[in-house]
Amino acid sequence: MTYPIRPIDESEWPAFARVNEESFGWTPHPQQAERYKAQTEFDRTLAAFDGEQIVGVTGVFSLTMTVPGGQLPVAGVTAVSVLASHRRRGVLSSLMRRQLNDIRERGESVAALYASEALIYGRYGYGRASTELSFTIDSRRSGFVPGAPHDPALRLRVAKPADVRGELEKLFATVVTRRPGRYERVPHTWTAVLADEEHDQNGAGTLRSILAEDDGGVRGYALFRIKSSWDDAGVPDGTLKLYELEASDPAAYALLWRSVLDRDLVTTVQAGGRPVDDPLTVLMADQRQLRPRWADELWVRLVEVDRALTERSYSAPVDAVIEVEDNVCPWNARRWRLTADLTGAECKPVDDEPDVTLPVNALGSAYLGDGTLGEQLEAGLLREHSPGAVRRLATAMSWSPRPWAGLTF
Ligand SMILES: CC(C)(COP(=O)(O)OP(=O)(O)OC[C@H]1O[C@@H](n2cnc3c(N)ncnc32)[C@H](O)[C@@H]1OP(=O)(O)O)[C@@H](O)C(=O)NCCC(=O)NCCS
Repeated sequence: MTYPIRPIDESEWPAFARVNEESFGWTPHPQQAERYKAQTEFDRTLAAFDGEQIVGVTGVFSLTMTVPGGQLPVAGVTAVSVLASHRRRGVLSSLMRRQLNDIRERGESVAALYASEALIYGRYGYGRASTELSFTIDSRRSGFVPGAPHDPALRLRVAKPADVRGELEKLFATVVTRRPGRYERVPHTWTAVLADEEHDQNGAGTLRSILAEDDGGVRGYALFRIKSSWDDAGVPDGTLKLYELEASDPAAYALLWRSVLDRDLVTTVQAGGRPVDDPLTVLMADQRQLRPRWADELWVRLVEVDRALTERSYSAPVDAVIEVEDNVCPWNARRWRLTADLTGAECKPVDDEPDVTLPVNALGSAYLGDGTLGEQLEAGLLREHSPGAVRRLATAMSWSPRPWAGLTF
């Protein structure tokens, strides 16, 4: 059975939102639901219909994402859901295929998403492209290594986040291009980040911010909530939940972390979703005290392999014939010669013998600079025909800092 697919118009929003809420088991507060609607790009929605009923949905945010060496328009796939009554009948597969065609027609070469479950998107050519760490830190054991940066010109300012929104936006705009995977925030994004109704608080109180600044202006900020508590003996035992910590330079970064870790009455700092190469991992004298847990973050799909590969920079010269396997976007499935050096890249269709044969997912995994091609070769997921070709390709595609989006879309 096939289910016709088309974008919705605004009048169909309630039925679209209902599929999302039902499938995720999500009961948004009316203000959350309103924010979600306000963010929606209606011309980029897709709904699958069973007769008059919407049974499956997805959407795209038109993101400007940092990639190695620059920024690109990237399709940020979101709101993927299928009603329980229609699951496992191929509705998602039809939506994904249609969406990838639409993205290609629109001229975006790359799609990215956050996955609710890691098993869903590989079959559509997405690869795990960034990793996030979550820390649970005993703040009493959080001393820094000797030589941690310190700038006496810096001072801290406590402020209500809503009162300093403009300053946070300005600071964020200076850091967004520094790391692949980060994407520019539009006003709706900031409204969601700073949302502070009781239902956003999860019992941890109001959203708070602290800014690091000098006479020249703001150099960083932290956004957090504090769940205060005392143990049975009356000893303070509060938990600080860190949402964001952004800084323009290492001294402001170190000062903000110290401010979070040294907070009075707090014994535990929970920092979810940090980059895998967060400088905190080398600032902490006892790295074990981070108690990190890791998880996949962004999944990336090269929609047009040749364009995507020429639209990023490379860390080292490379010249390789890559044979790409892609049964969802067949226009990618052929041999390409990637030639890149530190000044630019070319990717041309060729019939030459390949140096490497790989599924398109592998290129998606490596695209933002996470170095997973070597592991994939060792695991037998790629085929190397010329000795050393994967190592050279992996070196060229790797990037520092490592990719991280830092905010779900
Ligand atoms: C995930 C979801 C969208 C799948 O929709 P669906 O229409 O049932 O998927 P399809 O029938 O097109 O499945 C296609 C293939 O993916 C597999 N698949 C689908 N969902 C899967 C999951 N959660 N885990 C593992 N495999 C999954 C199917 O088994 C099928 O495999 P096959 O081709 O080998 O038979 C749906 O189950 C859902 O709405 N889940 C809750 C919300 C959610 O997690 N959305 C994803 C947000 S990122």
